[in-house]
Amino acid sequence: PRRDGKIHRLLAWYDRHRRDLPWRARPGETPDPYHVWLSEIMLQQTTVATVGTYYRKFLELWPTVETLAAAPREDVLKAWAGLGYYARARNLHACAKVVAEELGGRFPDSEEGLRALPGIGPYTAGAIAAIAFDRPAAAVDGNVERVMTRLYAIETPLPDAKPEIRSRTLALVPERRAGDFAQALMDLGATICTPKRLNCMICPWTEDCAGRKSGIADGLPRKKEK
Ligand code: ADE
Repeated sequence: PRRDGKIHRLLAWYDRHRRDLPWRARPGETPDPYHVWLSEIMLQQTTVATVGTYYRKFLELWPTVETLAAAPREDVLKAWAGLGYYARARNLHACAKVVAEELGGRFPDSEEGLRALPGIGPYTAGAIAAIAFDRPAAAVDGNVERVMTRLYAIETPLPDAKPEIRSRTLALVPERRAGDFAQALMDLGATICTPKRLNCMICPWTEDCAGRKSGIADGLPRKKEK
């Protein structure tokens, strides 16, 4: 599966169409784990459009994990105001303290090490491991669930489909460019393989997509009735 042509088609598409987001390293630049972590925490329940302003403000106030760790908690919560879910801001500050005070200012580079930190769950650990450290990790969020269920015509409803989605995603992660692969999947889900409108004509996976071939893509993912 690592020689799978669709990985190359996705990465080639990403090279041409990648969104230039404030937290993304430019091609050839080395990503800063602090930047990746900060953006992924902010993006957990907030849109890309809203996060931009906050992300820049935080980096201006606290350019390093050490400066964020040393800030009074009220200042961090105040700067967070408007992003919502204040538990995220408290965890953000707690995590910065652990990294700065116990880990010498360095974020762990494994999913396991990242998951041990406050506020970092499976999705965020996968995203940081892949994007900041190019580890072959999967970052499966709602966008990626949609892309994968369509690509493989997975008709099992969510949440039961989650293990299959996860293993299918992991099987696709390339040994090189795992971070670009993770972000390419996010961009594909955000801009092409969207919930309502399928832009299959311009999708790099149009010929690979089992959901499109069988005409069921727009009804995927299925969701279990509650
Ligand atoms: N959503 C969550 N993480 C993201 C990222 N790194 N780029 C774009 N959208 C995202």
